[in-house]
Amino acid sequence: THVEWDLEAASKGGYEYFMEKEIHEQPEVLVKTLNSRVDENYNINFDDAGLTKEYLSGINDIYIVACGTAYHAGLAGKHIIEKKTRIRVDVEIASEFRYRNPVIDEKTLVIVLSQSGETLDTLEAMKEAKKHGARIVAITNVVGSSIAREADHVVYTWAGPEIAVASTKAYTTQMVILNLMAIDFAYKFGKITKDEAVEDIKKLYDVEQSIQKMLEYDEKIKNAADKIKDSESMFYLGRGLDYVIAVEGALKSKEVSYIHSEAFASGELKHGTIALITDGVPVVVNVTQSGLFEKSVSNIKEVTSRGAYVIAIAKEGNTVVEEVADEVFYIPDVEDDYAGFPTIVIHQLLAYYLSKLKGNDVDKPRNLAKSVTVE
Ligand code: AGP
Repeated sequence: THVEWDLEAASKGGYEYFMEKEIHEQPEVLVKTLNSRVDENYNINFDDAGLTKEYLSGINDIYIVACGTAYHAGLAGKHIIEKKTRIRVDVEIASEFRYRNPVIDEKTLVIVLSQSGETLDTLEAMKEAKKHGARIVAITNVVGSSIAREADHVVYTWAGPEIAVASTKAYTTQMVILNLMAIDFAYKFGKITKDEAVEDIKKLYDVEQSIQKMLEYDEKIKNAADKIKDSESMFYLGRGLDYVIAVEGALKSKEVSYIHSEAFASGELKHGTIALITDGVPVVVNVTQSGLFEKSVSNIKEVTSRGAYVIAIAKEGNTVVEEVADEVFYIPDVEDDYAGFPTIVIHQLLAYYLSKLKGNDVDKPRNLAKSVTVE
């Protein structure tokens, strides 16, 4: 009815689609998420989640278990937690984990990630881990959800309701929590000083600004999407953190644009993937990680010499990328560990515009449900 339509329009806050609204909410909700765990003196508090120094000093390893986009946030979480704490982190797809008798015991911390808190495979994987005596900390967005109720401890993401099937703000808020855990655990293990922890937390707060800047690319991203919208396939490449962000970028693209989108670790090109690169194929390349910059630039050359149309995402100042790529989006010159935040926003907007320009139902892509409560 007319009234319902008006209500829906109102809840979109002036945006045409929920996906667009939720992408634009990210700067604000990321600060909310940070504020939920960081006090005015930059102390991080996860004690209510059972993650005390005493408990953490007794664990051997960490498992992160989730599905889809939440799994991808876990991949980024592994990167940062292992780097900062030197504890081994395994990330696993819930539907695999639950059936394969994974090696876990009471010295394993299992972190489950789920926006909805209702994903069946994640819920069952969690119960399986519990049976083996592992402690379960759930990171979820929905208060009182099944996963929140079954977990030993819950950390909420504070993203607010996410309506679009394609997850955006849930992903970045999950990444914020995992980054905070990495800093907190590293401090508790004596790997970093209090001052270093404070510096890191401030850099996480700066993510608000770096994302805000990316939202201004709106028109430019729309134009880029318009050039590639009729492609049958597209590829995403990266190394290190750039790779795990590419994996999420590809999922965003495939679910809303319906273009076959696949992410590869750049180093894997020669091992098969490069056979797929033909004239005009769009390849989105993340080149934000300083230590891997030269290698990533040569990967761009490898694909452009086979005719690929390269859209690169690089840090401000790295103008050499313009010489090798067809199009470049610059993110602010943030530290490598935080580059994933602005980078994913460009991927999200690209996917959004591909979907919209193709006339797809952006918020409710075909064949998909917001939460998967069946196997
Ligand atoms: C993301 O865009 C997807 N729609 C999907 O992969 C989703 O992240 C997955 O189903 C997990 O959902 P959850 O976070 O609610 O458990």
